[in-house]
Amino acid sequence: TYVIAQPCVDVLDKACIEECPVDCIYEGDRMLYIHPDECVDCGACEPVCPVEAIYYEDDVPDQWSDYTRANVDFFNDLGSPGGASKVGKINADDKMVAALPPQAS
Ligand code: F3S
Ligand code: F3S
Repeated sequence: TYVIAQPCVDVLDKACIEECPVDCIYEGDRMLYIHPDECVDCGACEPVCPVEAIYYEDDVPDQWSDYTRANVDFFNDLGSPGGASKVGKINADDKMVAALPPQAS
């Protein structure tokens, strides 16, 4: 799977959403999350993110390694909806993300 990391927090550019062929990038309150089971590893989202927040799971920088877990845990209650557009914005975040101070302006 691919993983969205800290640079997305409070930015939410959403260019990635337009690229995903399987609609597996879900919107939380302060960042977006890639569904680990729905992502087909096409990689289309990674180059379009203006803040380089998206990484293949093996390439997530060490300082953001907990985002691999966060992209999984975000879906603990949601399960596998099979499409982000029908779900819409989810007014929640992983606890680690919710606890962060305000990020980029
Ligand atoms: Fe976030 Fe980048 Fe997508 S900022 S919403 S991961 S384009
Ligand atoms: Fe979609 Fe990116 Fe995965 S475009 S299929 S989330 S690699």
